[in-house]
Amino acid sequence: MAIKPDKVDGKYETSRFAELSYDRFRAMARDSTLSLNERMGMPDAFRDGYEDAIMADICAKLPVLGEEGRTIVDIGCGCGLLTLKIMELCAARGHRLIMVDSPEMLELVPDAPHIVKVPGAFPDCKQAIRAEAPEGADGILIYGVLQVIFGSADIFGFAADASRLLRPHGQLLFGDISNFSKTRRFLATPEGVEHHKAYMRTNEPPVVPPFPEDDARIDDSVIFALLMRLRGSGFEAYVMPQAADLPLANRREDILVVRR
Ligand SMILES: C[S@@+](CC[C@H](N)C(=O)[O-])C[C@H]1O[C@@H](n2cnc3c(N)ncnc32)[C@H](O)[C@@H]1O
Repeated sequence: MAIKPDKVDGKYETSRFAELSYDRFRAMARDSTLSLNERMGMPDAFRDGYEDAIMADICAKLPVLGEEGRTIVDIGCGCGLLTLKIMELCAARGHRLIMVDSPEMLELVPDAPHIVKVPGAFPDCKQAIRAEAPEGADGILIYGVLQVIFGSADIFGFAADASRLLRPHGQLLFGDISNFSKTRRFLATPEGVEHHKAYMRTNEPPVVPPFPEDDARIDDSVIFALLMRLRGSGFEAYVMPQAADLPLANRREDILVVRR
């Protein structure tokens, strides 16, 4: 079930986690006054209790996770309960898991024999990942990360570099992409108006901006351009909806990339 908007003070949380960047995540990872979710740039209400549903959604879209003895890469792995669940699943399936994030974030992740930590910002650290997986990755997960790098980095280069880490028939999931066009369509519905009022603690309806859209955010044009670019680079790429019981499914979606 989607988050209950009255459980989150949207105005406060939106400003608290505005303008996230790799360096801001590094600083938040060091801040012991924050919960693990907050260190990953989200209020607890966006994640607590949703991890199993998120895992089920990821596993359904990235079937390689259900196989045995594969090489999996998690770029922007974070440090929360979802991170631990991915580690557990990989241990149970005999996968080797290469975890990529800042050194500060990785320090919050427990060590385990089946994991390798590669500290650094992707794609700067792509050679280090390649050194750990010279044959390429069977599966790559990049969950909740694209919107963080969008605006400050080349999203197309990021997506292509990540896709090139796949071995033939490997699968990459860009999950939990915050799509402003989808948000806008939602806010234009009666349900979206009520959601906005409760979430933003206001009686005013949302102002749904007309075109042109805010070019600092990912919207449909970026999602579809990513698909076009990835397909043009020889990968199969698909947009996939999130399961309805995920916390932000009314605003987020996923991209699955499969290497031929
Ligand atoms: C919103 S959190 C998501 C964490 C985790 N994937 C999850 O969903 O629980 C985004 C994560 O991406 C990391 N990150 C941001 N930019 C990155 C980059 N260029 N390379 C690697 N990690 C990055 C941040 O440090 C942070 O841990």
